[in-house]
Amino acid sequence: MTVGSSTGPRLAVLVSGRGRNLQALLEAVADGRIPARAAVVISDRPGVEALERAGRMGVPTEVVEPQPQQTRREYDAMLTSRLTEHGVDLVALAGFMRILSPSFVRRYRGRLLNIHPSLLPAHRGLHAQRQALEAGDRESGCTVHFVDEAVDNGGIIVQRRVPVLPGDTEESLSRRILEQEHLAFPEAVRLVLSGRVRVDATEVKR
Ligand code: GRF
Repeated sequence: MTVGSSTGPRLAVLVSGRGRNLQALLEAVADGRIPARAAVVISDRPGVEALERAGRMGVPTEVVEPQPQQTRREYDAMLTSRLTEHGVDLVALAGFMRILSPSFVRRYRGRLLNIHPSLLPAHRGLHAQRQALEAGDRESGCTVHFVDEAVDNGGIIVQRRVPVLPGDTEESLSRRILEQEHLAFPEAVRLVLSGRVRVDATEVKR
């Protein structure tokens, strides 16, 4: 079974866990909002919910697990070979919990997208929603950006905002942001595939 267009660009999604963003992306591919084919879903961890979601939607899955003593570069070379094998044009990181090596990032420059649950450049790294609450922010949201060599950095493609409400917990804020993530990621992938947004030197051109 093919999910999405059989001739369009080939999308890979890299995951490590729950896969809610993955699901939103695959649904957008399946209903044509993203004009691409879901080529493969790759997880660095076996048995995660994201793999089940992809399997249920008929998208090929692979587990590329880090090996003991393996360097980051070696792991990323394994990943590259799997992506090449699947003829992948665009890579979406949807809760992929590994930092990618500079050579991998350079290879996929302008074709590698990440989603982060904050209004970057605020609150990079882990527990972004908790960071927003601790900082007393009145507003939060999510960012889809091109990946560059630094963590949670790179040209911004789409941001969506939500209010931080009195009494919010990490869970309630995360849920509100996640609803926007599910809109932002497909929108960003569509923009990049349309050629209306691209990364050029250090800037995003529209
Ligand atoms: C999301 O909050 C995403 O922004 C972050 O990791 C989380 C992944 O959740 N990068 P899921 O696996 O898509 O459910």
